[in-house]
Amino acid sequence: MRVEEISTWVEDAQKAFASATDLDSLKAARLAHAGDKSPIALASRGLGSLSPDDKASFGKVIGEAKAAIAQSLADATAVLEAERDRKVLLEEVVDITLPVNRSHRGGLHPISIIKNEVSDFFIEQGFAVEEGPELESGWLNFDALNIPADHPARTMQDTFFIEPVESGMVLRTHTSPVQIRTMLTQQPPIYVVCPGRTFRADELDATHSPVFHQVEGLVIDKGITMAHLKGTLDNFARHMFGPDVTTRLRPSFFPFTEPSAEVDIFFNNRWIEWGGCGMVNPKVLATCGIDTDVYSGFAFGMGLERTLMVRHGITDMHDIVEGDLRFTRQFGVGL
Ligand code: PHE
Repeated sequence: MRVEEISTWVEDAQKAFASATDLDSLKAARLAHAGDKSPIALASRGLGSLSPDDKASFGKVIGEAKAAIAQSLADATAVLEAERDRKVLLEEVVDITLPVNRSHRGGLHPISIIKNEVSDFFIEQGFAVEEGPELESGWLNFDALNIPADHPARTMQDTFFIEPVESGMVLRTHTSPVQIRTMLTQQPPIYVVCPGRTFRADELDATHSPVFHQVEGLVIDKGITMAHLKGTLDNFARHMFGPDVTTRLRPSFFPFTEPSAEVDIFFNNRWIEWGGCGMVNPKVLATCGIDTDVYSGFAFGMGLERTLMVRHGITDMHDIVEGDLRFTRQFGVGL
């Protein structure tokens, strides 16, 4: 081993590192000139077999050579890494002035938006949301709700009966059968809202649709009075129509509530009928096995199409059912 030889290794390594054009070729040069099998590494490992004098002098030279090689490797690495970073920035550049893709992602239908809005409002107050089937037994849709066999709602003009007629199945004409399902399966206290699709044999015109949506509310607890019903409706109306809206109850009749009322709202300077409501008829509670000496309750139901139409001044039901995007987009995506 000669000292000149060692300085050649250093020069070779420096040249090889300096001429590497990228980090991959630098890696190859590093293995050749600074790796385990490089001349400098072998010489370093061979120091042990030298005489103590040689060991001291060559040790010093080899140590300096290793440091010089390491330094030039570090310099070359820094240069090539900087180069790579600069290239990546150039290659991955994004032209933020290019025109964007303006395709629409889609969104919820306004009826779904208002349905979620109603559900969220009641969930905040501790109500649960219950849903039932659209194809319903006549018993749950009518009989359990105290709707007698000769009630006009039970005629072919009003209700879609499912063949074979002996099946007793109908497309539910309101969401009230979900009240029954809830009372049959849950113990009071019950606080639920039941939004859903409902069906009546009406022609589609400006104010009717054979397929529409209702939301039902049902509360069964100890000591529930009509004052609770009125308060709940007031809050609900204010949430849907704004803080200035007033509600009024007008005596009415439903077989499943007693007493019953229509709930009107004073909105845009006129009284508008919004829905039906009342104290759950004790007959209905008894059918569902609820002790009428202990519990009482109220129920209400309104149309979601009607709510949407009143609130937004929509005058034609066709706009709601036809799905023209120019109409639905005005309500946002609802997500
Ligand atoms: N189910 C009634 C209807 O469809 C509305 C209603 C619900 C009335 C609950 C009173 C109580 O017209």
